[in-house]
Amino acid sequence: MKKLFSIALLFVVAGLLSFTGDKSLQLPVPKGWSKPLYDFSANPLSEAKIALGRKLFHDPLLSRDKTISCSSCHLPQTSFTHIDHDLSHGIDGRIGKRNSPVLINLAWSRNFMWDGAVHQLDAQPLAPISNPDEMDDTLVNVLQKLRNASSYPALFEKAYGDTNITGERMLKALSAFMLTFISADSKYDKVMRKEPGAAFNEYEARGYATFKAQCASCHTEPLFTNGAFENNGLAPDTFLNDKGRMSITGKTTDELKFKVPTLRNIELTYPYMHDGRYKNLQMVLFHYTNNIFESSTLSPKLRGGLQLSESDKRDLIAFLKTLTDENFTHNNAFFPEPPTAP
Ligand code: HEC
Ligand code: HEC
Repeated sequence: MKKLFSIALLFVVAGLLSFTGDKSLQLPVPKGWSKPLYDFSANPLSEAKIALGRKLFHDPLLSRDKTISCSSCHLPQTSFTHIDHDLSHGIDGRIGKRNSPVLINLAWSRNFMWDGAVHQLDAQPLAPISNPDEMDDTLVNVLQKLRNASSYPALFEKAYGDTNITGERMLKALSAFMLTFISADSKYDKVMRKEPGAAFNEYEARGYATFKAQCASCHTEPLFTNGAFENNGLAPDTFLNDKGRMSITGKTTDELKFKVPTLRNIELTYPYMHDGRYKNLQMVLFHYTNNIFESSTLSPKLRGGLQLSESDKRDLIAFLKTLTDENFTHNNAFFPEPPTAP
């Protein structure tokens, strides 16, 4: 009994996937969170599928010249973004148009990309694979490369029962892997769960109160996003000329609106915003107080800018750092499988 209990505890502590009888897996839903939005009935999780997705995610074979993998732009140690790069860097050193977003808690996302261009996680990888600035290949060609690679037919068989390598199977395996990127073990989470010894210090506690008053209507707990598209007052970049959500809907009321990003692991994911224009959190807070660009679609909550004193800002940053989840960024299961000894 005691052993059973400690095994169960292990699963909870590590935030790992728990087994159900038939070797299929269920995504663990952190305590107090809503049900995931992803439709698992169309893509049941299994260990073998996640393992296949893990290999695909880290494999540069998915790009035209075999130099760029998904993890070139989405590095596990930085919560699956590319730190220090304002705009993403793809094949032949080509520069993309946007900052690579974190990949966290994707099972709870309704829209993908900064402008919500994609509605289905399973369809999402098609964009980078075929984007000339990212991986610059075609699905047909990538599938052919997988069929010719020595290891893949057996991995597809383990995951799907036969060696048939199809686009749908590849995409579902990538989703299966990405769905396991659950971050819910930061200091903030421990404090909320009232774990023994977990408590905010006075700065963090004041920062949390300010956060709830000034930020949480958009960066809503526990995901730290409300999933909506908002204009948070960034002056348009005349070179990139990115209209955000409007380029998808065509509506002028959506001009300069972007998906509200999560703030989980925000300490690690600089530079910030869809074009990576701010290098640190001090600059982000200066933006919200002093640099709001007024336009017709600006969120009414931000008109005139927020009122934050220097000590409010210091406390807010202390709070934001409690969202760092090192069990997530150090999770071995997210890194490439270590090579097996010959
Ligand atoms: C060259 C860099 C680059 C590569 C390679 C890349 N991505 Fe991305 N990824 C991005 C950027 C930039 C965005 C945001 C694009 C936008 O908003 O228009 C993004 C967005 C995403 C999103 C949406 C996240 C969200 O919350 O909206 C997912 C999921 C994703 N990528 C998965 C992948 C997968 C899987 C691969 C490999 C098949 C991959 N990416 C390869 C740069 C890259
Ligand atoms: C009206 C909604 C709204 C409010 C209120 C708001 N934000 Fe944001 N926030 C956004 C949007 C939208 C973005 C993404 C904008 C973009 O890149 O175009 C964003 C981006 C950010 C980013 C960068 C995230 C990243 O991954 O690049 C940080 C940090 C941030 N906000 C912190 C805060 C803090 C702290 C507050 C309160 C002082 C706050 N926000 C208030 C909507 C809001």
